[in-house]
Parts: sequence; C-alpha cells; structure tokens
Amino acid sequence: HFLLGGAIAGIGATTAVAADYALGSGRRPEQDPTPTPLNGSNTVPFYGEHQAGIATDAQAYATVLALDIRAGVDRDGLRRMMLILTDDAARLTQGQSALADAEPELAVAPARLTVTFGFGQRFVEIAQAEAPGWLRPLPSFGVDRLEPAFSDGDLLIQVAADDPLTIAHTARMLLKDARTFTTVRWTQNGFRRAHGSVKAGTTMRNLFGQVDGTSNPVPGTDGFDHVVWNTDGWLAGGTSVVVRRISMDLDKWDRLDRGGKEQSVGRYLSNGAPLTSSSVGEAAEFDEPDFAATSRAGFPVIPEFSHIARARSDHEDERIFRRAYNYDDRPADDAISNSGLLFISFQADVDAQFVPIQDRLDQLDLLNEWTIPIGSAVFAVPPGCLDGGYVGETILG
Ligand code: HEM
Repeated sequence: HFLLGGAIAGIGATTAVAADYALGSGRRPEQDPTPTPLNGSNTVPFYGEHQAGIATDAQAYATVLALDIRAGVDRDGLRRMMLILTDDAARLTQGQSALADAEPELAVAPARLTVTFGFGQRFVEIAQAEAPGWLRPLPSFGVDRLEPAFSDGDLLIQVAADDPLTIAHTARMLLKDARTFTTVRWTQNGFRRAHGSVKAGTTMRNLFGQVDGTSNPVPGTDGFDHVVWNTDGWLAGGTSVVVRRISMDLDKWDRLDRGGKEQSVGRYLSNGAPLTSSSVGEAAEFDEPDFAATSRAGFPVIPEFSHIARARSDHEDERIFRRAYNYDDRPADDAISNSGLLFISFQADVDAQFVPIQDRLDQLDLLNEWTIPIGSAVFAVPPGCLDGGYVGETILG
C-alpha cells in the first residue's frame, strides 16, 4: 500500500518537480559535475512560418514514422487528429509533457526535439484538397528493389532530437494519440554522431566513411529558401520530403581500395574535398570540384561517372536539400552488416528537382555498385502554424 501511494504521488508530481529531478538536481549540488546549461534543455521553437526539423541543424537521432489512415476516418477526423498531434508536438518540443502523459519525467529533456508532419496522397484526398502533381510514389527506377515494409504511407512524422530517449517518448505519445485514426505502416530509426562528439557544424559521415552533405544548400540563405520552400496555395511555406531507405553493402565496399572508394564519389575520404583539391585540411572540403581537370594520362580527375559528377546538374532548378541519417540493423543470415542511409531530402517540387537527379543516378552512378534503394515514400510537408493554430489548417481549416 505504501509503495502504491508513493507511485501515485510520483505520477501526480508537477512537471517542474519532475524536471528538477530528471535533470539531475536529485544529486547533492556540491557533487554535481554536470556543466550547465545541459544539452537536454535546448529547444527549437515549434511555431513559425515553416515546420521545424527541416532548416534545423540536423539533430543526432531521428525516428521517422509512416502511418496509414484507418478506413472510415473522414476530413473531420483528420482535423481532430492534427489538432491533438500539433498540441502534443508543441508541448513536447518545449520540454513540457503532453496532455495525459503517463511518463512526464521523460518530457523534461527536449534536446532540440522537433516533430515534422508530412501528408501522403491519401491524406490530401480525404482532406478534399488539391494535391500537387508530384504527390504520388516516385516513378520506378531500375536500381530500385523496394519493399512495402519501408515504402509509402498516408501521414509522415519525423521525430528528431539529440537524445534517443526523448525521441522514443515523443513517438509513443504521438502514436497513442494517433491510434484511433491511424495504424503504423513503418518506422525507421537513424543516427549521426552523438551530440558533442565532434565540433558543431561538422558535416556528417555515412557508414561508408564518406563526408556526406557537403554540397547542400545552407539554411538561412536565399538559395536554401528557393530550393526548399513551396510557394503555391495551401503548401506555401511548406515543402516536400522524399524518404528513401538505401542499403549500403559495407562488406562489398570494404573489398574496394581507398583510391577506388574515393573515385566512386569523386571526393577524398579524409576530408571530403573534391579529388581536384587537397586531401589535407578541413577548409578544402568546400572547394569547388573542377570537373574539367584531367590527369597526366588525360583522364578526368573526378571520374565522369562518379556520384558527384552524376548528381550535380547544370540546371539551376535541379537542387535538393539532403538531411540524411544512418541506419544499422541486424544482419540477415550470414552477412555481417545490414546498414545504409535513411536518405531524406526536402525540395519545393519533387518532379522538377528530385526526379531528374535520381533519373541520372539511376542511369549511371559508380556508387550504384554498393547501394540499393529498398524503401521509398513521398509526402507534402505543410507549412508551420502559429500559437493557437495547427499543422494542416491550410487544408483542414
Ligand atoms: C553528394 C553519398 C544517394 C544526391 C554526395 C556525396 C556523398 C554522397 C558522399 C558527396 C558529398 C556531398 O556533397 O554531400 C551518397 C550515398 C548515397 C547517396 C552513400 C546512397 C546510399 C543519393 C541520392 C541522391 C543523391 C539517392 C538523389 C537522388 C546527391 C547530390 C549530391 C550528393 C545532389 C551533391 C552533388 C554536388 O552538387 O556536388 N552523396 N549519396 N545522393 N548526392 Fe548522394
């Protein structure tokens, strides 16, 4: 009886008390070596013109959920669901527990938590709104070996933070509240280096060891705004997201020598600099590749079929913003790895920006030798909302 009473009192504790305790002040102050402010206390604003989690400097971890809308849920149901999910996200991202949060102690360290919603084709149909032409599965590419377990879906929720426990709690709260309206179609977890392991602003590395994300529009610039934000109708201030699960054959990759690995992408492994630049020094990473440079034997220094030569377009509009995460799952059978990239890209228009790049890579890209797309999904990402509003109000309001 005594224990039960204690447990009930614990549940009833205010978030502030829970916060104090969970953030470590349960220890005696003179013994507390923890620097303040804590990373866990960092927050990203939820409300705004754009949803957070896109221009936000990528957090260390992400869980991406794709839900299917249950049969019988109508436009009104979608509105009710987005009102609740918006409220949850607005609270949790600011370090406050969600309504009826059974584990409020887990909400106290937001660690730059962001929650980003995307609508699939069926969501927009049920909402009786006009869908952009690109809101459908991507055309099928020759390299694809897509598995339904990682593809499509009606509602996307990207939960990202610098703390995986925060993500797990947030995902659970959102799923509890979405449960009457949706079923889970797939979930995928991704990671980068833990917060604080490397200098802030360091470009991520993927599991091939490559510096990945160098040539990317920079948030806060006009170039980024132009690439990412849609300006049409209900999607104005929103964007689109392409989520591709791309398996990377690490075992095969490791049979390739270092030179071969660098040629396949056109950049050095050491610092991510183009092969026409220096393999030493951090700054060289951002040097412009010289695709015209040739070796003494007359061959291009950056192979014309290398990933960067094929991915880069002369066409100003064919640009995307990549915000990928690594995945590393249980190997099947006698393989020793089951790893890859949770490729996530944002662009104002999928057909005009993403598809031409993927088309070119599909035709020819040295990297295809070691990579296989096994999942694919496309969502329209509505704009953000202001306090008192909700995500999705531009089609459900
Ligand atoms: C560049 C890796 C898939 C589009 C790069 C770079 C690496 C890389 C190491 C060079 C550094 C950088 O600028 O980020 C990979 C891996 C992939 C993959 C390992 C699959 C597992 C894709 C896909 C697309 C894509 C599916 C789009 C359809 C690009 C673009 C660039 C790039 C646009 C920049 C090219 C430039 O202008 O220099 N990728 N990539 N990549 N990648 Fe990928």
